[in-house]
Amino acid sequence: MSKSVKKNKYSIDPENVKRIGILTGGGDCPGLNAVIRGFVRCCNKVYGWKVVGIKDGFDGILSEDFMEISTGDTRGLQVLGGTILGTSNRGNPLQYPVEEDGIIVTRDVTDQILKNLKKHKIDVLVSVGGDGTMKIAQSILEKGFPVIGVPKTIDNDLGATDVTFGYNSALACATNALDKLHTTAESHHRALVLEVMGRDCGWIALEAGIAGGADVILIPEIPFDMDEVNRHIHERKKSGSRFSIIAVAEGAFPARDSKVYKKKPGPDGSPGKLGGIADWVADKISFSTEIETRVAVLGHLQRGGTPTTFDRVLATRFGVEAAHLIGNGEIGKIVCLRGREIKSYDIKSAIKDLKVVNPDGQTVRTAEALGICMGRENKYEKRK
Ligand code: F6P
Repeated sequence: MSKSVKKNKYSIDPENVKRIGILTGGGDCPGLNAVIRGFVRCCNKVYGWKVVGIKDGFDGILSEDFMEISTGDTRGLQVLGGTILGTSNRGNPLQYPVEEDGIIVTRDVTDQILKNLKKHKIDVLVSVGGDGTMKIAQSILEKGFPVIGVPKTIDNDLGATDVTFGYNSALACATNALDKLHTTAESHHRALVLEVMGRDCGWIALEAGIAGGADVILIPEIPFDMDEVNRHIHERKKSGSRFSIIAVAEGAFPARDSKVYKKKPGPDGSPGKLGGIADWVADKISFSTEIETRVAVLGHLQRGGTPTTFDRVLATRFGVEAAHLIGNGEIGKIVCLRGREIKSYDIKSAIKDLKVVNPDGQTVRTAEALGICMGRENKYEKRK
């Protein structure tokens, strides 16, 4: 083992590594294929290891759906959206649905996961995913199987890394949508409400809103006051701006009410599906301001298509660095971006905190200094 290895209790001797499994779990995002390409090439070229792709996240381990990937298979992959391996955000192995006596019950099937990985002679598992995937990766690690994590999500909500790949592509998509909504809103003198993804974090709404010149930005980190929003739109109307653009995160909610779901979280702890807050906001705007209001929900467009240059580079660097971690014998780590450098942290500490927008941070203050309404009183605004 290299002398530079920062040993933790999971460290391995890289001399014993021959085959590495890689999977993509959770919701997809642009850049996953660039990670696979970077990882496979570095494994093959630098270390001479074989890489086995696992289909559809952890499901593929249970169904033993594996495919060998070598450098030749990764040609041009950096451009391709989605994931060639497939993914799944269902079927958490810690609470896996199984049928027993005709009834569906949930069981921890991680022992079966370990058994199948060993059966296929996989020495290390690389798990590319968001917080849910990393929690599963951590429990497999704690059961004694060597795991490395690579963080992804369009939501940019993982505390471990300054930025996740996928976020920049989603942001570009949301900004482009706001640019387009501007022209039609202006022509028709309408208010246009764009609902963007982000789950419980407002990064996409906030940064796309600033880049796309939104007049109102609503994010989960600042429960909003609808009176402030309507007042802002009224003021714009009075000053001659007969249209308004509102960027709303799917997880944003009024201070006196709760989040809006398409499907509520289940009593068993199953996650809900956010969606519908843009309609709620649009109804209130048209009622209070009498401005014709329309809604656009960007949805999965934000997750699809070609990654931006930024995401391609970040994802490639993550893929290569994941291989180097194994080459150094470092296990139980997740690769992260800190400033401009790729670093690594223990998976366990990396998944502890969600990275939320600071309601009083510099980016929100920038928006407010521009005169954007964040759904609360803007302290930079002089009121008559
Ligand atoms: O976490 C990524 C994300 O796209 C969220 O922004 C969104 O709330 C969710 O996934 C949508 O999940 P699904 O693909 O299951 O509809």
